[in-house]
Amino acid sequence: MRRLRTQVVIVGAGPSGLLLSHLLGRRGIASIVVERRAREYVEQRVRAGLLEQSTVELLREAGVADRLDRGGLVHEGFELRFDGGQHRVPFTELTGWTTCMYGQQEVVKDLIRAREAAGGPMYFGVDDVAIFDMDTDSPRVTCTLEGEAAEIVGDFIAGCDGFHGVCRRSLPAGSFRAYEHVYPFAWLGILAAVAPSTEELIYGVHERGFALHSMRSPSISRLYLQVGPEEPLADWPDERIWAELRTRLAVDGREGLNEGPILSRGVTAMRSFVMEPMQYGRVFLAGDAAHIVPPSAAKGLNLAAADVRQLAAAFTAQYADGTRELLDRYSRDGLAAVWQGQEFSAVMTSLLHPFPTDGAYEARLRQARLRDLVTSRASATAFAESYVGLSRARLAATLATDPRLG
Ligand code: APR
Ligand code: PHB
Repeated sequence: MRRLRTQVVIVGAGPSGLLLSHLLGRRGIASIVVERRAREYVEQRVRAGLLEQSTVELLREAGVADRLDRGGLVHEGFELRFDGGQHRVPFTELTGWTTCMYGQQEVVKDLIRAREAAGGPMYFGVDDVAIFDMDTDSPRVTCTLEGEAAEIVGDFIAGCDGFHGVCRRSLPAGSFRAYEHVYPFAWLGILAAVAPSTEELIYGVHERGFALHSMRSPSISRLYLQVGPEEPLADWPDERIWAELRTRLAVDGREGLNEGPILSRGVTAMRSFVMEPMQYGRVFLAGDAAHIVPPSAAKGLNLAAADVRQLAAAFTAQYADGTRELLDRYSRDGLAAVWQGQEFSAVMTSLLHPFPTDGAYEARLRQARLRDLVTSRASATAFAESYVGLSRARLAATLATDPRLG
C-alpha cells in the first residue's frame, strides 16, 4: 500500500479542483488532485464559455490568464431577439462590468499546465476514489495510483468532483438537505468551425423554442437550441440544426447566419440543484459537486470560481494563523451567493424558454417581460447586474459586514 500525506486532498480536476489546487499552491499549501477521467478527456470536454469579470480577475490573480488575456473576447452587451425584432442590452454601459468569452476547456488546459509547471501532484484516470474518516482530523482517500493501492491522508478533503461525483454521495444520510428542480426541456449545443455571425451573443426567443448564438473565437461559433428533455441526437442531422437555428434567430423573417462544419454536439439537461450545507466534518464541497444551474445564464463556472475563491481564502487563514472562522463561514456565505445565482438562472430560464405547459396567457406574460427588459432602463440595469455578476459581488461584500443576511 502506497501512503501519501498532504494538506488538502482534492477530488476532481475540473475547473473547481484545479483552480483550488493552484491558488493553494501559490499560498504555500500542499494538495494532491485525483481525477477519474483521462487528462485528454478533461481538456476536451466542451462546456459553457462565458466568464464574468470577477472570474477573469481570479484567474489573473492565480497567474493563469495569459492565454485568456490574449484570446478571450471581451463583451459589453448582448442582443435579444423576439417577435421578429432585434434589441440590444448594453450591460457594460449599465453596470461598468464586462464579460469574456473563453471556453471552459481552455481554462482547464491553462490550469493543468500551470499545475504541471509548479510541480503540483495530479493523478488522472483514478476511477476508484473512496473517502473515509470525514469527521476526524485526518480524513483520507483511498484509490489506485499507477496500478498500486494507495491511501492519501490530508487535513481536509475538497470535494470538487462535479454533480455525479463520489464526495457528496459518501456523506452520511441526513447530513445535508438537497433542493432540486428539473426543467421539461434541454439544450442541444454545437461547436462549429465558422466565424460568429455577429460580434455579440444573440439570445433568440421564438415560439418554436429558444436559440442562442455564442462564440469561442473569431473562427469558432457556439450555438444552442432548446429541445425536448430526452432528445436523441440522431434526430438532429446537421441540416435540421441549421434550419432551426436560422428560423429561431431570424429578424423580420430575414435569416442571416454563418454556417460551417459542426465540430462537436451534445445535449445538456436543464436542472437546478443545491445542497445545504456544503460541508460535513472536514469535507468541503465546491462547484458542481454542491450545486448546479441550468446553462441559460452561464453561471455554473462562475459560481464554481466564487466557491473556490472563498475556500482558498479560508484554508489560507486556517494555515496562516489557525483561525477557523472563514472555514466555518464557507458554507453559509457561499450558499447566499449560490442562491443568488440560482434565482437569476431560474429567471433567465423562464424568460427565454416557452415551456411545454404554457398556454396563450403565459406566452403573453413572457412577451411583456421581454418588452420591459428592452424599454425600461431600471429593469435592464437590474438584469444586467445579475448577468455580469455584480449583484453577487455586492452580496458577498455586504455579507462580510452584515452576517444576518447569511
Ligand atoms: N473521482 C475523481 N474525480 C471525479 C469523480 C470521482 N469519483 N467523479 C467525478 N470526477 C471528476 C470529473 O471527471 C470532472 O473532471 O470531477 C470533475 C468535476 O468537474 P466539473 O464537472 O467540471 O465540475 P467543477 O470543476 O465544479 O466545474 C464547474 O463545470 O459543469 C460545469 O457548468 C459547470 O462550468 C461549471 C463547471
Ligand atoms: C456559451 O457560450 O456557452 C454560453 C453563453 C451565454 C449563455 C450560455 C452559454 O447565457
